[in-house]
Amino acid sequence: MCGIVGYIGTKKAVPVLIKGLLSLEYRGYDSAGICVLNNNVLDVVKDKGRVKNLEENPELSNLIGNIGIAHTRWATHGIPSKENSHPHLDNSGKFAVVHNGIIENYTELRSMLEKNGYTFLSQTDTEVIPNLISYYYESKKDVLKAVSLAVTDLKGSYAIEVISPYLKDSIIVARKDSPLVIGIGENENYIASDIPAVLNYTNKFYFLEDNEISVIKKGKISFFDSSLNPIAKDIKDIKWDATSSEKGIFEDYMLKEIYEQPQVIMETIGSRLKPNEKCYFDDLDIDLKNINKIYVVACGTAMHAGLATKYTFEHFCKIPVEVDMASEFRYRNPLIDKNTLCIFISQSGETADTIAALKLAKNAGCKTLAVVNVIGSSITRIADYTIYTHAGPEIAVASTKAYTCQVVLLNILAVYFAEVLGYESKELEDFKMEILELPAKLKLILDDTKNIQDFAKEVYTKQDLYFIGRNTDYAVSMEGSLKLKEISYIHSEAYAAGELKHGPIALIENGVTVIGVATNPNLVEKTMSNLEEVITRGANVMVITNQVIPDIKASCIIQIPKCTPMLSPILSVIPLQLFAYYIAKNKNLDVDKPRNLAKSVTVE
Ligand code: AGP
Repeated sequence: MCGIVGYIGTKKAVPVLIKGLLSLEYRGYDSAGICVLNNNVLDVVKDKGRVKNLEENPELSNLIGNIGIAHTRWATHGIPSKENSHPHLDNSGKFAVVHNGIIENYTELRSMLEKNGYTFLSQTDTEVIPNLISYYYESKKDVLKAVSLAVTDLKGSYAIEVISPYLKDSIIVARKDSPLVIGIGENENYIASDIPAVLNYTNKFYFLEDNEISVIKKGKISFFDSSLNPIAKDIKDIKWDATSSEKGIFEDYMLKEIYEQPQVIMETIGSRLKPNEKCYFDDLDIDLKNINKIYVVACGTAMHAGLATKYTFEHFCKIPVEVDMASEFRYRNPLIDKNTLCIFISQSGETADTIAALKLAKNAGCKTLAVVNVIGSSITRIADYTIYTHAGPEIAVASTKAYTCQVVLLNILAVYFAEVLGYESKELEDFKMEILELPAKLKLILDDTKNIQDFAKEVYTKQDLYFIGRNTDYAVSMEGSLKLKEISYIHSEAYAAGELKHGPIALIENGVTVIGVATNPNLVEKTMSNLEEVITRGANVMVITNQVIPDIKASCIIQIPKCTPMLSPILSVIPLQLFAYYIAKNKNLDVDKPRNLAKSVTVE
C-alpha cells in the first residue's frame, strides 16, 4: 500500500519523482524518500511525514542526477520514522531499494544475513532486500543475477525498484502480487505503482507481471522471467487524460470525483446500452445456460456495489446471487464449481484479498469475471473475462465515482445476461431507458446540495450515527455509513430498517442522528414507520427519498429524482457521499487522505 515512482532519462530526476509522489500520496503518507544516482554515488533524502515535508527538505537540492527512485510509505513493519522510511540501502551503500508489499519471511532472511555479518538500521521488512541483493552480488558480480536470486528468496508480495552504481545507466524492477507499471517516454522512462503518477508524461505503458524482472535504461527496456530468460511484452495505450488526475477547480479530489459522476457514468454506459438495441459486451461469451449461481466477491465499497446490484441479477436473470467479502470468501471453502460464475469487483484491480479470492475461484473451476477500473491491473490479468468501468483515475481514498460506475455497469451486465438467457420483457426495456436517464438525474442532485451541507453542519460533532433502509436502500445505507466512517472518523452503522426493533433501537435516545433511505414504493411506508419509531425516541433524522412521504418530524428531507429501486443506489448514494464529505470538512479533516487508510489495499 505504498507508492513508488522511478525515473531514468535526461531530465533532473527529483522534480519528476516529487510530482509522482504527490500524486501517489493516496497510497500512503506517513513517510517519503528519494534516492538519486549521481556520479556513482547513491544520495538519499528521506523522513517521516508527508511528501510536502520531503519537497521542502533543503537537502533535496543536493540530489542532482537523472536516475532516481522514490517512495511514499504506509507503515506495516515499524513506526513511521526516518530510519524506517524508504529508500533503504544495503550495508555497503551500493544498492538502494524502494518496496511496496510485505516480505513475510523477512525475519528468517534477516537472521541469515546477520549470520553473514550484515547489520540492520530499521525495523522494516524491506531492509532485507538491498542486503540480500548485496549478499548475492558478492558471489555473482552481476546486479541482474543478484536481484533475481534475491527475489527468489522473498515470500510475500513485492514491487521493487533497485538502483546501484554498479548499474550506472539502469534501474532494475521486479514484482510479485504488487502493481508496477513502466511508462515509456522519448529517451526517458518512468516507473510507478499506479498509472496517474506518470500520466503527465506518457500514455504508453508496460505492465510488469508477477515474477518478472525488467531492466530499464533511458532508451531501452528489457524484460525477463524469473530464470532471466528474455520475454516480449505488449505496450498498452492508456486513454486517461492527465488532467483527470488533477484537482482542477475543486478543493479536494473527493469533491471533484463526486461531481464527475454524471460524466463517468455516461462513459461507463458508452455503447454498451442503447435504446431499442440489445446490450453488448465485447468478447463476453460465457455459457450462461449452465450457470446456476453467481457469487459477487469484493472488498469495502466495491463489495457494496455487489450488494446494491444483487437484486437486479436475481430479478431479471433468475439466478441466485450471493455477495461476499473477499477476505471471508477466501478462507471459507465456498461451495463453488464450474457452474458458478464468480464476479470480482475492484476499482484498483490490485486488492490483495480480492486477488486471492479470484485465484481460489479459478482453481475451483468457476467462470470468473472482473469488473475493474484500472486497465491492465492484476485482477484483469487473472480473470477469465474483464469488463471495465470508465470512472477514470480515482485519487481520493474514499471511493465515490468508482462505486456508482460499478453499480451502473453491473446493472447493464444483468440486463445483458437477461437478454442472453431470453428473459426479455417490457420491464427490461423500461429499465434500460432508466439507466440512460441516470446522468441527467445525478446532475439534478449535484446542483442543489444546500440542505445536505446544512444538515452536515448541524450534526458534525456527533459521536454516533445510524443509517437505515430496506433492500437496495439498505445496501446504499452500508455504503453511506462506510463513507462517513472513513473520512469523518465518526462511528456509524447501517441497519436493515426492519432489524431495528431486534436490538439496535436500544441505542436510540435524545439527539442520536439517524439517516433513513426510503426510495422503494413498496417499502417506503415500512421504512417511514421505522423512522417514526426513532423520532419518538428523540432521534434527529435526515430522510433521502423519491417518494411522497408522511409528514414526519425530520430535520432534513432530501428529495431525489424518481427511479426504479434497482437503480436508486446510484442516485441516493450522492447525498450520502456529500454528507460524509461536508461532515469531514466541518471537522477540518483531510478528506482525500483519511488516517490509517490507503487507496489500494495490496497487502492482506
Ligand atoms: C472505499 O471508500 C474504500 N477506500 C475501500 O473500501 C475500497 O473500496 C476497498 O479497499 C476495495 O478497493 P478496490 O475497489 O480497489 O478493490
